[in-house]
Amino acid sequence: MNRKVWQASGHEAGFSDPLADCKKCKNRFRPDKLENPKVCPMCGGELTEPRQFNTMMKTFVGPVEGEAGLTYLRPETAQGIFINFKNIIDSFHPKLPFGLAQIGKAFRNEITPGNFIFRTREFEQMEIEYFINGSEWEKWFKYWVNEVKNWLKIIGLDEEKIYFHDIAGSERAHYSKKTIDIEYKFPFGQDELYGLAYRTDFDLKTHSEKSGVDLSYFDSETREKFIPHVIEPSMGVERTLLAILCEAYQEEKERVYLKLPFALAPYKTAVFPLLANKPQLVEKAKEVYKSVKGCFACAWDERGNIGKRYYSQDEIGTPYCITIDFQTLEDETVTIRNRDTMEQERIKINAIISYLAKNLS
Ligand code: GAP
Repeated sequence: MNRKVWQASGHEAGFSDPLADCKKCKNRFRPDKLENPKVCPMCGGELTEPRQFNTMMKTFVGPVEGEAGLTYLRPETAQGIFINFKNIIDSFHPKLPFGLAQIGKAFRNEITPGNFIFRTREFEQMEIEYFINGSEWEKWFKYWVNEVKNWLKIIGLDEEKIYFHDIAGSERAHYSKKTIDIEYKFPFGQDELYGLAYRTDFDLKTHSEKSGVDLSYFDSETREKFIPHVIEPSMGVERTLLAILCEAYQEEKERVYLKLPFALAPYKTAVFPLLANKPQLVEKAKEVYKSVKGCFACAWDERGNIGKRYYSQDEIGTPYCITIDFQTLEDETVTIRNRDTMEQERIKINAIISYLAKNLS
């Protein structure tokens, strides 16, 4: 959560900073972060007087529009987790440290949506609140830096395109004692992919103060009672998807393919009869398709010619394509084609499952 030094594209949930518009290029800025609060740092144009902006989406619960029903769509999933905290400790009695995770919609009245699905007004967030004893926050913060690194490897992002940006105190959200923005080099520039924040005990303490409900944790070993602190990895689904697609997209002379990590490929394999108008080939191919489908996500395609079918599976990142041809009818072998190298091997039908299991792992 980088409170951008001067540009108003960074966003803190439910928090509105006074912003000024450039009369010429129409960009928006936080004037308190500018050297000259009257002049646009991008084009030199004149800035308007600073104004407060609504950053949360307003609506009314119930059929009658009025102050009593006034409500706001959540700008982060995090607060739902804090609200559930008491239910969880009263029902499951977990011991610290433990994490609660949620995925769901978040809404922000974003000032500058853009870059395809990078910044939108409605998006899907995945957040973990990891509850800890405050005295151990540094240890757990390091642990989560490592976990995020592991996750980035799993989704196949190039280490060289990832930056761990330690956010300076003056730019951090008011509740955070340490924040790292995990940035990715998108084709349109380097920008925030995820956030990792040490939110202290700010949220539970504030909910407790405002509601009058005790949200402290009792450690039965040390007999201590205290409000846990949290480390929060916060991730956008759309930004994850966008980074994965940017990383996987490959263009070669005649083809486009998605070099997805195998775990992320929607189909692991596809089965084709060489010719769709030869019933014997189709029948054999269907047999193979049915047996492979039981073990791996498998596509069936009999449209057009074989080359086009390969290319269309390449475009969605299917790692292996299996073709049933005339030789199959004679010796129970098929060709299996590798998405990345386009090399083909001939293997026995009864070896397909073990071949895929070995090569996809
Ligand atoms: N609970 C902390 C929090 O909400 P944030 O940095 O404002 O922090 C966390 O948002 C993550 O949510 C971002 O790193 C990004 O992945 C995603 N995100 C935030 N605003 C977004 C938007 N307008 N469109 C798409 N994703 C967004």
